[in-house]
Amino acid sequence: MEGVVESREWYLAAYCPQGLPTSEHLKFRTVTLSIASDSIPDGHVAVESLFISVDPYLRTRFTGTSDGLGFQQFPIDQVITSFSVLRVIGSKDRKHYTEGDLVLVPAAPVAEYSIIPSSEILRKIDAQSGISMPEYIGSLGIPGFAAWIGIEVLGDPKPGSNVFISAASGAVGMNAGQLAKIRGCRVIGSTGSDEKVKLIKEEFGYDDGFNYNEESDFDAALSRHFPDGIDVYLDNVGGKMLEAVLNHVNKCARIPLCGMISQYNKVWTERDGVRNLLNMIGKEVRMEGFLLGTYWHRFGDFAKDMEGYIKEGKLKTKNKLNVGIESFLDSLSSLFSSSNIGKVVVQVKA
Ligand SMILES: NC(=O)c1ccc[n+]([C@@H]2O[C@H](COP(=O)([O-])OP(=O)(O)OC[C@H]3O[C@@H](n4cnc5c(N)ncnc54)[C@H](OP(=O)(O)O)[C@@H]3O)[C@@H](O)[C@H]2O)c1
Repeated sequence: MEGVVESREWYLAAYCPQGLPTSEHLKFRTVTLSIASDSIPDGHVAVESLFISVDPYLRTRFTGTSDGLGFQQFPIDQVITSFSVLRVIGSKDRKHYTEGDLVLVPAAPVAEYSIIPSSEILRKIDAQSGISMPEYIGSLGIPGFAAWIGIEVLGDPKPGSNVFISAASGAVGMNAGQLAKIRGCRVIGSTGSDEKVKLIKEEFGYDDGFNYNEESDFDAALSRHFPDGIDVYLDNVGGKMLEAVLNHVNKCARIPLCGMISQYNKVWTERDGVRNLLNMIGKEVRMEGFLLGTYWHRFGDFAKDMEGYIKEGKLKTKNKLNVGIESFLDSLSSLFSSSNIGKVVVQVKA
């Protein structure tokens, strides 16, 4: 492809310290971009977006402060970025990439077209591999990797361990539950509706689950589901659920802190406190926050495991495809209104 293209993109117009970001904060615009060969610098590629990942952490990059997950804030007036599957349409790194290559990029512009350094490409993907492009975004992308780090690396449950996973029907949760089942654990999930509880049991193999919106007392719900206590809790929501879990932990339980989505839209003084951290001492509990950025060196091991499980039919994937780059903001909002199921992906073209 040669010449000039019109490219639609999402950019940050204003920070949003609390509440859900709206079209006041994230705006859509059309820019003109030259993708002619002489406009591509050496060591760069011109790319078109095919599938864009929509992840909760992106919201923490619009607050204007660096507390919490610690991600760099997106600069005002600049295009935002996300994990994406892209097609190379022009290359000035021909040794490694040529037109037509499909590539995964962890922080690609949320734009129809762009020019990026080829060093930002994580890996090429094979369209004939039997794995779909949305699967490369979901179970083989950020949420699958987070689930794998949380269960395989940090949680490390033994066969028969009691494992609890919150936000169980979401992108991380569906993968984490299945990975724990593959390890022979008893796995219980919490999620936001009866329909989602049914889904995690019937499609993702969870042993049981509960709808946290129907439980007035999380402590009582956990007593019911974990008569023998909790060995591993993969925390995706934080707040009151994390507090309740600490009343049910077994000796040497592990709590990988993957995310705390119930707290992302609040300034820190409004966030929930966890009053019973004391329980961690007597039970010698290990609670550990993690970010994928620290584990990129394990991405190859993860991808090998997950590709194998998907191809062998041991791990099911579920994606919610929203068509058109204009759907990005609504797609992001759906993560906070619980209206999503599975991995939310923007499919740039129909
Ligand atoms: N550490 C890392 O490197 C890393 C990487 C990826 C993701 N994460 C974290 O993992 C978690 C899940 O991410 P994901 O991509 O898999 O998202 P997701 O689960 O697909 O979507 C978010 C889900 O969170 C639940 N939720 C929203 N607001 C909530 C609230 N106030 N209280 C309880 N649950 C709430 C909703 O499900 P319900 O229907 O169940 O309410 C929603 O579907 C997030 O906290 C995310 O930040 C961390």
